[in-house]
Amino acid sequence: MAQQVQGVVARAKGEPVAIETIVVPDPGPGEAVVRVQACGVCHTDLHYREGGINDDFPFLLGHEAAGVVESVGDGVTEVAPGDFVILNWRAVCGQCRACLRGRPQYCFDTHNAKQKMTLLDGTELSPALGIGAFAEKTLVAAGQCTKVDPAASPAAAGLLGCGVMAGIGAAINTGNVGRGDSVAVIGCGGVGNAAVVGARLAGAAKIIAVDIDDKKLETAKGLGATHTVNSRSADPIEAVRELTGGHGADVVIEAVGRPETYEQAFYARDLAGTVVLVGVPTPDMRIDLPLLDVFGRGGALKSSWYGDCLPSRDFPMLIDLYQQGRLDLDAFVTETIALADVEKAFERMHHGDVLRSVVVF
Ligand code: APR
Ligand code: ZN
Ligand code: ZN
Repeated sequence: MAQQVQGVVARAKGEPVAIETIVVPDPGPGEAVVRVQACGVCHTDLHYREGGINDDFPFLLGHEAAGVVESVGDGVTEVAPGDFVILNWRAVCGQCRACLRGRPQYCFDTHNAKQKMTLLDGTELSPALGIGAFAEKTLVAAGQCTKVDPAASPAAAGLLGCGVMAGIGAAINTGNVGRGDSVAVIGCGGVGNAAVVGARLAGAAKIIAVDIDDKKLETAKGLGATHTVNSRSADPIEAVRELTGGHGADVVIEAVGRPETYEQAFYARDLAGTVVLVGVPTPDMRIDLPLLDVFGRGGALKSSWYGDCLPSRDFPMLIDLYQQGRLDLDAFVTETIALADVEKAFERMHHGDVLRSVVVF
């Protein structure tokens, strides 16, 4: 029987979000209903509310979540009721050209639940990133559930579902950071600080955190940055070069999503080094770089979608490291809040006060 639960809904562009009763159908073939235990507040939720993603209002927000599988539909073999899972937005299809070439982390045809959750009057909801986890329960494709060690804290584990995975993956998957590398991270919010953590996990020898906010730099230091640069008071390109023997870093990760910080990343990188863009730009943004520099400096300019993660490979591994005390996911949980406080959390996020506010149920 379909269930009625409370969820955070954005009804119209720019309007404050509100708690509404939503209807969650029983899982159909290939689907699962998950009892959500925790869900982080991410910029993308705010972008949905502001109409920056598309106009398919009303949205059921929330997508950085962990919980327990309550029921599964026909043909579901990968998870079972009672499993502790992190929700992902990369349920790979196994059949697109990326999957067929053995690169499922780039899957171009990821899937979500086929049935729709609705409002009480039957209006279909668009779940954020196909998840919609600011809700007591949500309906997803079974492939969106990645089973991990149930001893992990849901608030911390859920963060791997989006921003923290994006940052760690930008370093370890896209940037391919290796032992002894020098790494600079420009922008040390939730994503950038996760890139700092990823660089450390991968064995980087030097990790230079760059931000305009000293608070964020302090946090970066606590998470493994060996040097910090406030780019309001110092030229970040010069500073990174100075800290790397005059050369620039092997890998520079841009975690802001702006042309000026991308340009800084481009020039703060050593010859033959790698730039990773994990910050998400807006459609109006442009960059203007001398093509001769693009050629002459060599190396790689890469983008990182969701940290190029493969949830089934990366989530359990990172949760194991967390459980062993080798990956401090708790450091990203600035505060835990109630479902009713999402709108307030958007405000705090806007002011840069938090790495992550996490709704716990
Ligand atoms: N130079 C350096 N740092 C900057 C600059 C700048 N010009 N402008 C902003 N920052 C810093 C902020 O001070 C903040 O610490 O970038 C950080 C951005 O962090 P958050 O706002 O917490 O955003 P986060 O969740 O980390 O996401 C960063 O990645 O996934 C994308 O959509 C996301 O584009 C966003 C980016
Ligand atoms: Zn695919
Ligand atoms: Zn997100």
